[in-house]
Amino acid sequence: MNTNKDKLVIFDTTLRDGEQSPGASMTKDEKIRIARMLERMRVDVIEAGFAIASQGDFEAVQAVAESVKDSRVCSLARAVGPDIIRAGEALKKANASRIHTFIATSPIHMKYKLQMEPEKVLEQAVAAVKHARQFTDDVEFSLEDGSRSEPEFMYRIIEAVIAAGAGTINIPDTVGYGEPEEYGAMFRRVIESVPNSDKAIFSTHCHNDLGLAVANSLSAVMNGVRQVECTINGLGERAGNASLEEIVMAVRTRQDLYPVETGIDTTHIVPTSRLVSSITGFPVQPNKAIVGANAFAHESGIHQDGVLKHRETYEIMRAEDVGWGQNRLVLGKHSGRAAVKARYEELGVTFDDPAEFQIIFQRFKDLADKKHEIFDEDLQSIVAGAEEPVEHYQLAALDVHSRSGTRPRALLQLMIDGKEVSAEADGSGPVDATFKAIESVVSSNADLKLYSVNAVTQGTDSQGSVTVRLERNGRLVNGVGADTDILVASAQAYLDALNLLASGEPKRQGV
Ligand code: KIV
Ligand code: ZN
Repeated sequence: MNTNKDKLVIFDTTLRDGEQSPGASMTKDEKIRIARMLERMRVDVIEAGFAIASQGDFEAVQAVAESVKDSRVCSLARAVGPDIIRAGEALKKANASRIHTFIATSPIHMKYKLQMEPEKVLEQAVAAVKHARQFTDDVEFSLEDGSRSEPEFMYRIIEAVIAAGAGTINIPDTVGYGEPEEYGAMFRRVIESVPNSDKAIFSTHCHNDLGLAVANSLSAVMNGVRQVECTINGLGERAGNASLEEIVMAVRTRQDLYPVETGIDTTHIVPTSRLVSSITGFPVQPNKAIVGANAFAHESGIHQDGVLKHRETYEIMRAEDVGWGQNRLVLGKHSGRAAVKARYEELGVTFDDPAEFQIIFQRFKDLADKKHEIFDEDLQSIVAGAEEPVEHYQLAALDVHSRSGTRPRALLQLMIDGKEVSAEADGSGPVDATFKAIESVVSSNADLKLYSVNAVTQGTDSQGSVTVRLERNGRLVNGVGADTDILVASAQAYLDALNLLASGEPKRQGV
């Protein structure tokens, strides 16, 4: 690292704020897989969850704390005793831990949400920071809805929490209301006005409601902020959070402007983006900066000509620097167990149980029979559907008839608790017919909230990766399926979601 530059701390909250996207909740194993990729990318701080939110969240924070060694692992906690105790317990085994405690400081939040006087908020904030310091020497304090808080009150509360032991002060733009110039200037004034501001690192945390999350974060960096909170693919509540890949690459590409450097190994960006997308079922739009499929594709003849003559004519970054082109052909149908296992390890997936690996290996072989080239994305989609706790419903066979001018008809055989059952139905399209056939025997009473299909790799022999989101009695589950036949993948995803609904404990735990 260039010694003239300050370090910009990258705080990833994909597993906490990202998971707060409706439908993006993740299992413990999925969180561990993403956390390992973030660690490999050299993310400084991984916010693994909100330990008090549920038993599942507690266990996920605990599991990430145990498996990640090189990044600091953090849990969110409201500024109240039980939250802080729970966060501290979950982080006990972390190599390096952080408790991130917060309370709202804007007039509107204090009056209507907290129904507390500002003095009481200040008192509670100080007490929370002191309490958190009993569990770890790394405590972050956030002023929720900070960008709409009154400056004088912010200065007082920040001074007090720094004195109480907070090492990082985060001023979030919780509702995505900020504008770059104004948000950056706010940090400059805070840093100048708070007498002990030199004892803390200031942090930004921006939501994207007006599409300004990255711009606001970068403006904050220009005005003295040295930690950015962000998520892979910009995942997050409502319109999302600032996207990690955009922040990191903006800082790296415009070193002439930014007085900071990150420690991120950017070559892991694209594989991590794909992993997050395949786990959450949220596709990345093709024109998304850095990680979209078209981000480095030059379509026009003039651009292609320019790039061939001298790459920098139209390219400001190199695709390989962010991990494009690394989905190299790794394996095929002649690959053995050791090679498959080793590649999984490189992708951050380990198998403690040989029986579990045997299931994955068999799925790999089945896929390799249908598809000659097995890419990293294929390997990830194989494991994505491999953690089902209960398999009440399994697909035995599917036969779909679809001809132009006629209504598609699906005939299928299901195994329901080991018993074969046949079903058929027609529908407005082949997928609709397949789902209706399943429902004709299952009668789940669930609402279909999302159906999404994506090609896992390029080419017509690619696997289709399907996500089906179902809701029943307020419980939301994401089923996933992948197959070279997208109708089979769709049926698998639907059954996966039904299995999750049928299993006593939720596979995915939202906050
Ligand atoms: O957006 C927000 O204000 C948050 C805080 C809890 C940091 O996510
Ligand atoms: Zn947030």
